Amino acid sequence: MKASATAHLQDMGASPGEAGSTGRISRGREPIGFDIREPAAYADRNAAAGTRMTAIPIYDDLPVEPDAILEQIFDAAGREGNLVRLYHQLRNVAPIHQSQIERLGRPWVLTRHSDAAWAAREKGLIKDGRLVDQLGGDPNSPFVTVMKRMMNFIPAPRHTRLRHLINPGFTQRTVERLRPGVRTHIQELIDTRLADGQMDLVRDFAYQVPLAMICELIGVPFEDTHRIEVWSRGVLESVDEVAIVTPEMEERRNDAIFGFSGYFQSLIDARRADPKEDLISRLVEVQRGASDLTDEDIIATLILLFQAGHDTTTSLIAKGMLALLQHPTELAKLRARPDLLKNATEELLRFDTPVQLSINHADEDIAYHDQTIQEGEAVLILRGAANRDPERFPDPDRLDIEREDIEHHSFGLGAHFCLGASLARLEIQEAIGALTQRIPGMQVDLEKVEYRPSLHLQGLDALPVTW
Ligand code: HEM
Repeated sequence: MKASATAHLQDMGASPGEAGSTGRISRGREPIGFDIREPAAYADRNAAAGTRMTAIPIYDDLPVEPDAILEQIFDAAGREGNLVRLYHQLRNVAPIHQSQIERLGRPWVLTRHSDAAWAAREKGLIKDGRLVDQLGGDPNSPFVTVMKRMMNFIPAPRHTRLRHLINPGFTQRTVERLRPGVRTHIQELIDTRLADGQMDLVRDFAYQVPLAMICELIGVPFEDTHRIEVWSRGVLESVDEVAIVTPEMEERRNDAIFGFSGYFQSLIDARRADPKEDLISRLVEVQRGASDLTDEDIIATLILLFQAGHDTTTSLIAKGMLALLQHPTELAKLRARPDLLKNATEELLRFDTPVQLSINHADEDIAYHDQTIQEGEAVLILRGAANRDPERFPDPDRLDIEREDIEHHSFGLGAHFCLGASLARLEIQEAIGALTQRIPGMQVDLEKVEYRPSLHLQGLDALPVTW
């Protein structure tokens, strides 16, 4: 997808209009009257802070029927240039909406910040193997079997146990030790490109930073990355919500899992014989004292970490830099005040998150706002919409690197909160900090920006910049 990146970017910074609106809960095609302001968790706080909620209009040029809006959100061409406005429209007409769209699993769809926070913390809403089954294809394939061992598809208590075993490798203190290495790597990447006056910021920079870091953290020799990248692409295309599993794709994703599994098994065996200072050695050590951590569990965890640990961060570095290039005043402010880097990172995460959605399933009947989410029903959190909720964020479509109190949904909340959040933050801070300081004249040709069609993992395929 190319060209109308300009429209997409305008959309990302779109200014809301004047008129106000009320919203509705809807079940299927029949809206159920419900004043959205009534349950607003933040209304009192906004009033106390003297903050006026930004009014977002009903857009005449967009559909008003909730499922029609949702269809457009999930259609890469249909949402182009309009994603944020579509999010606003859906939140305005039906903030809690039970969709009838079969291919999405007829989920309840949440677009408000407060509802998304509720869903992430509600114990009756869980993540399990149904999410993998929903991707389609052979339910007994090696791909599906390995995916179902990953912690993001496992509910408590097993999930709690796995997090407990793996967590020590990802605490802020552990991760902070990587900072000097990340910094050096980033400086070297910029050194090799500086004289060229141009690069593809995705391929030549944003992709390279998390890839090197996740390899170092896990213990993958960097020279092996070209092999792993092929398998990684095989897995990535399968978790794309717009993909239809063809026999060729089934074969690619199984090949990817075989490749990954064989490779990581050989590294596990090597570290068992000769431990090093890396995550594989640590997990092998943990395994000695834990009868419930098999090699298969470690392999699934390593694949998950490799996937989750580089694609998302690549997207954020690229989309974050793009957002800054689109907002020269904020960029200049950041250049002049590097002390704003941590806050700017949070604002960039809020502004255009790489993980736009998550799905949970009800493990029991759950009462919420006079409605019942029935056991087995799916709940879809639109993170990008929650991050732009005017009830939570004053002037939500404005990029403001000095914004206060940025509690975004980009890393999730609750039990499945992103395990790699500290690492991601560190990499983003170092990457954006170095780019803004060392390449002050950077410019982007918006016509050449390429977006991926996936909404779930929304990233860029190309971001050509010059200086
Ligand atoms: C900007 C970068 C990143 C973003 C936006 C991001 C976002 C997220 C989100 C939203 C979730 C929760 C998904 C859900 O509830 O459905 C998640 C989970 C997870 N993330 Fe990240 N992530 C990022 C970077 C990383 C990195 C660098 C790693 C590892 C090194 C990582 C590892 C994980 C893991 C293992 C989980 C599953 C946690 C669980 O189920 O308990 N992520 N991430």
